[in-house]
Amino acid sequence: MPAPAAPAPKPVFYKDVLPILQKRCQECHRPGEIAPMSFRTYAETRPWAKAIRQAVVTRKMPPWFADPAYGHFANDRSLSKTEIQTLADWADSGALAGDRKDAPPPRDWPSGWNIGTPDAVFEMPAEFPIPASGAVDYQYVILATRFAEDKWIERVEVRPGNRATVHHAVVYIREPGSQWLAGEPGGVAFPLPPGSGHRPNPRSLTTSDILMVYTPGNSSEIWSPGIAKKIEAGSDLILQMHYTATGTATTDRTSIGIVFAKTPPKQAVLTLQMGNDRFVIPPGDPDYRVSVTGTLPNDALLIGLLPHMHLRGKAFEYLLDRGNGAIETLLKVNYYDFHWQIDYRLATPRLLRAGTRLEWVGYFDNSANNPRNPDPAAEVRFGEQSWEEMMIGFFDVLVDAGLTKAKFFERKR
Ligand code: HEC
Repeated sequence: MPAPAAPAPKPVFYKDVLPILQKRCQECHRPGEIAPMSFRTYAETRPWAKAIRQAVVTRKMPPWFADPAYGHFANDRSLSKTEIQTLADWADSGALAGDRKDAPPPRDWPSGWNIGTPDAVFEMPAEFPIPASGAVDYQYVILATRFAEDKWIERVEVRPGNRATVHHAVVYIREPGSQWLAGEPGGVAFPLPPGSGHRPNPRSLTTSDILMVYTPGNSSEIWSPGIAKKIEAGSDLILQMHYTATGTATTDRTSIGIVFAKTPPKQAVLTLQMGNDRFVIPPGDPDYRVSVTGTLPNDALLIGLLPHMHLRGKAFEYLLDRGNGAIETLLKVNYYDFHWQIDYRLATPRLLRAGTRLEWVGYFDNSANNPRNPDPAAEVRFGEQSWEEMMIGFFDVLVDAGLTKAKFFERKR
């Protein structure tokens, strides 16, 4: 005689569900952060039980797209199978509260800055108006740091004034003497004059280092002790703002907060990028492959990867050639989602030897089956706007604290 089936488990909110929400969801699902609703209490969460089930079973939430077969990441926020089962069973068994006494203590989230109290804050000096509809050119804002000495940055956070409209923001460090955007106004936001043809606007190209890239789901960088990013004395921060219209006319005033390292670091973080801007994606192509290869001139330790494509972006791979035909996959993103541009931070740094062949590959879906595709009939090239495409693999590396980006790229003969 078979044993009677065990009764279906009935997970309850306080004991089983809340710990998962605290660990994996409240980062965004709390007031003032990017998610539209909070999951701090039973009352807040109960109405969403069915939607939560759906979102976690389909792995739409939490946003995390790295193929688990490759690499280990420090900021992996994906749920385990058990956690998914618990949330699904909770929704299926009536989404019960359980006993409040079993609840973990509420997680003590910071209000405002997530990096602690910043040592310096740089804010756009004026609200920038975003129309209800239509494309907005990238806006540039030059913010003078007025640092009289070199500064090492251990933490940085970008806080949009209006999260709904800021699609992404790049904070560049314009080193003293750089001619990039020289003569442009400080403070107020300005677009660049139109570039020619389909090539990127030459004036938007720079070799300046990047302090950080803000995207929804990636709003701060906190480096480990002994690791920092340098801002040379007299540098300016250049904010590149990409706004998207939301259906309502609105404004934004974004700020950047930074925390200085208290002691000089051993290693400096450099943000590098390797991309391809010469592709032509044929109309209707469901799986168009665009790749770029290169080598580094010096050894560096890889610590983070951030693939960047637009609405037709479908998948992305970072590959490393170990020689003798052995290809190592550093990161594989199978379901690239334009709305979530995630910085995948390696659990342990990976040495990239000078001269090692690196290949980044992006796949694009320009077919009508891609629900985000603005126009399957279009032949698509490189461009800044969402209906154009990009293929860039950003990557953060650690180098000796004495090296600048320019020195790192001097090739030894
Ligand atoms: C990195 C930020 C982030 C994290 C972490 C996150 N969410 Fe979300 N979530 C969002 C945002 C933003 C939205 C609204 C936009 C969207 O639906 O993509 C959302 C929407 C949702 C929705 C509504 C989906 C729908 O179909 O309308 C549910 C349900 C949800 N999240 C559940 C969760 C659960 C459960 C977790 C944790 C296991 C979680 N989220 C973790 C940011 C996040």
